Amino acid sequence: MTRVLVLQGPNLNLLGTREPEIYGRETLDEIHAGIASRAAELGLEVAFFQSNHEGALIDRLHVRDFDIVIVNAAGLTHTSVSLRDALVGIDRPFWEVHLSDPWKRDAFRQVNFLHDVATASVVGQGARGYHVALEEIAARFGGTA
Ligand code: DQA
Repeated sequence: MTRVLVLQGPNLNLLGTREPEIYGRETLDEIHAGIASRAAELGLEVAFFQSNHEGALIDRLHVRDFDIVIVNAAGLTHTSVSLRDALVGIDRPFWEVHLSDPWKRDAFRQVNFLHDVATASVVGQGARGYHVALEEIAARFGGTA
């Protein structure tokens, strides 16, 4: 079975109460429950990891106990060469997801260290974006590896 790691960056643990007009009212646990049930329907194995610490996210990637990554790197998208290097270095395809559309927001969010090395990006669709990524992964890699 294709194993998908959903990696969630800084401040996403605050979803539900964090700027709900931008990020919605669902909590991260609720979003993860939705992802888990869609993954089960698609025949994908899914694991989750959230951290507010860049090094912890990088260490999790180094474990390489997954075939594909869905990553919302949050603010690190716009700052982290190291996270980019880890995602490239582990040699696994990754989908970049953002709840909002950073390209339509502040100028500093238009600096993106992941976009050009991601297999695909899904932005501006709220939590549904994770489901879009899962569906693209299932279509491309199948429910079983
Ligand atoms: C975000 C967009 C980023 O610019 C921001 O720093 C986040 C969340 C999103 O999901 O829309 O923390 O990644």
